[in-house]
Order: sequence, then C-alpha cells, then structure tokens
Amino acid sequence: MSKLWGGRFTKETNQLVEKFTASIEFDQKLALEDIEGSLSHVEMLGSCGIIPAEDVEQIKKGLTSIREKVLNHEVSFSVEDEDIHMNIERMLIEEIGPVGGKLHTGRSRNDQVATDMHLYLRNQTKEIIELIRFVQEAIISQAKQHVETILPGYTHLQRAQPISFAHHLLAYFWMFERDKERLQDSLKRINWSPLGAGALAGTTFPIDRQFSAKQLGFETVYPNSLDAVSDRDFILEFLSIASILMMHISRLSEELVLWSSQEFQFVELDDSFCTGSSIMPQKKNPDVPELLRGKTGRVYGNLIGLLTTLKGLPLAYNKDLQEDKEGMFDTVETLAGSLQLLAPMIETMTVKRENMYKAVSQDYSNATDLADYLAGKGIPFREAHEIIGRIVLYAIQHDKYLLDLSLGEYRNFSGAFEEDIFEVLQPKNVVAARNSYGGTGFSQVETQLNLAIEKLEK
Ligand code: ARG
Repeated sequence: MSKLWGGRFTKETNQLVEKFTASIEFDQKLALEDIEGSLSHVEMLGSCGIIPAEDVEQIKKGLTSIREKVLNHEVSFSVEDEDIHMNIERMLIEEIGPVGGKLHTGRSRNDQVATDMHLYLRNQTKEIIELIRFVQEAIISQAKQHVETILPGYTHLQRAQPISFAHHLLAYFWMFERDKERLQDSLKRINWSPLGAGALAGTTFPIDRQFSAKQLGFETVYPNSLDAVSDRDFILEFLSIASILMMHISRLSEELVLWSSQEFQFVELDDSFCTGSSIMPQKKNPDVPELLRGKTGRVYGNLIGLLTTLKGLPLAYNKDLQEDKEGMFDTVETLAGSLQLLAPMIETMTVKRENMYKAVSQDYSNATDLADYLAGKGIPFREAHEIIGRIVLYAIQHDKYLLDLSLGEYRNFSGAFEEDIFEVLQPKNVVAARNSYGGTGFSQVETQLNLAIEKLEK
C-alpha cells in the first residue's frame, strides 16, 4: 500500500519507524471529530467556489457513510496510514474514488489535528462539567440530612472546634463549583478554530475560515496560523484544571478513608463500594476512595508530561506534538470514571451521627468558647486564652472534660464564670454560636445550603 505522501520517497518506510511514528492506535478516538471537521471544511471549499458543488456533495456523502461505519464499529484502521486523518482520507478515496482526494485542498494535517483536539476537548469538558454536577447533587443530598449532625472540626488533624457535618461536606461543594467554573471558562479558549491555518502559514486558496469556524460552533478563529497549529495551551489548561479537580477529589477521598476507619467510625461506605481481603476475613477496605486518591498521581503526571513536551519546542508544528494525546485521553477517562463513582459513593454512605457526637463530647474542642465567654465579660482575649489554657491542663490532669468541672473549680481560675457556662459549653450551642457569615452556625449552614441548591439549579 503506497503512502498518501509517498511521491517524494524512493524507499518503503522502515517497519519499526512506521510503528513508532504512527498515532492511529490512540488517535482513532478522534474519528468522529475528524469527520465533523472535514464536513465543515469541504462545505466551506464549496461555498468559496474552490471545488465544485457536485464534488462537495460526493465527499459529504462519503464522509457521512464512513461516519455510519465508525459508529457501528465497522471500520478497521491501519498503521500504514499512520494516523486518523490519513486513515479516513484513504477510506474516503476508497469509497468515492479520486474525487475524495480533493478534501485535503487548502488544509494540512496540522490544522486538522488541532481542530480535532479542540472539538474533542470541548465535548469532554462539557461532559465533565455534568459529572461534577452529579457529585455536587450527592453532596447536597447528604448535607440536607446533616445540618444538625455535629462532628469535630480539625486543624493539624487535631480536634479544633465542633462543626456541622453539612458544613464540612459543603466545603467540597464550593471546591467543585470553582472547578466547574474553571472548566466553563476554559471553553472560551477551546472555542478558537485553528482550521484553515494550513501547515503553518495559511493557504493560497481563497478560503473562509469564519465559515468553517461557525459551522463547527467555534466562537472565533486563531488570528495567527503559526500559533493555531503549534500551541497546545488549551490542553494544558484542561490538564491543569483536571489536576486541581483531582486534588479536591483526593482530599475528600482521604477523609472518607479516615472516617471509615475503626479509629474514627464516622461513616460507613456502602458494601457495593468496598472490597474484601483475600486473607483477612474481617476486612472491608475503602478501595474506591483510595484509588481515587491514588489516581491523582497520573493526572498530575499527564500535566507535567505535556508541559515538558512543549517546553523549548520551536514554532511551528513538530512531531513532538503528537504526544499531546494519550495523556489527555487518559485524564479525560480518569476524571470521568472517578466522578462517576464518587457521586453514588457519597450518596449511599451511612453517616454515624452518634459516633460523631460522642467524639465532640469527649474532647476539648469547646475551649475557644470558654475563652470567648471570658472575653465577652471584658477580659482581654489574650488573658482569657491563658486562663482557659490552664483550665484545660487542669482538666486533663484530673481526667475530666470541660463539662465535667464544677462551677467552683471554674471560679478558682476566674471570678467571671457563672452558671451559664455549662450551656455555652454544650456542643450544639458551640456550633450554633458561630453564626458569622460562612460559619458553621446552623442558620448559616441553612443559608449556605440554599445558596448551593440555587447554584446547582442555574
Ligand atoms: N498524527 C499527527 C499528530 O497527532 C497529525 C499531524 C501530523 N502532521 C505532520 N506534519 N506530520 O500530531
């Protein structure tokens, strides 16, 4: 089989070279985008009078029939034709004869592949935004049930102040909201059309780049042909956003792993999201959140990989750019798979309120409230902090919690204490009292929850 570009060559390509340079094994994922781009391109060629209308019709018919075959998995791709672009062009010529060879008028594989990638990433970005929404819905469904569920809030992984469990979950809602916003915003830049930039310098044909851009739903065209064919910043941007998103998923996963441990027992993941051990019969392992945490590594890796590939590349197209694909596909698949599991896993987990409550009743996380209490009575906060510090030390030494001390014991430290401190110290009151905007006070959490629901409905 002779190469589509074989004219200048006197020898066959070395077979190892052929295999090494071919991208068809992975870029066949772009088949539908490639055909879509070609359909718009040929339409444009016709509308600009560059090729006759009958040829346009034939080419469109041919491409449409190839698309059918692709959808029905009836095509087989060949390494000899190197990549998806030449595979499809070959099929077209086989399907409709030499007129198929007119499709490549006024374009190059360089603007073609960039166009395919823009189209692909636009579709996938929209899908991922939808999948994030499902995770947010799952968070909201749990948050709704747990506004009044109290657990220790941590800093330095030490119990700090009691908080509402809904508040804790909603923190992730907003992280995912920003991830979605970043993806949405990146669509602006994905929506630039490289088509018609040619190999690097434009074309001698009187093409209309706006025409094909509009057909493909792009908002604008790259004003510089060199830039259009050689940058992959839109992919880097996706991989960066994906890395941040995966980092968020990983942090949440880590908490699920901790919370479902024997030490915490704050949640129990549904059996259908856990696996067992081949040797220890009692084990129920949180493999899914562990793997979500673990897969963050490959997503970061794909970002660093492409950054490194692009660094130092001279303009314009270089074959190095073919390395932009596998990492991107892998990231798309990893994200989609992760988000698809995360949503139902959150939705189905059992929250063990009693254990959470037990934890806050057996710690000193209400100490700040005692300090605030004294500060409210006019004692400078710094001094109040010192006094409460000594009370906590005293309590620890006497194997007691703050609620176990008597008023008499409190008064030994400060005359400002009165009977009402025992109310102030109740975990429920401790949480409710943090009623500043965005705080964990129950009424603030209700407000926040409503805001989140509103955001999702938009
Ligand atoms: N398979 C190539 C890629 O993915 C398509 C562009 C090839 N262009 C070229 N001048 N060899 O980058």
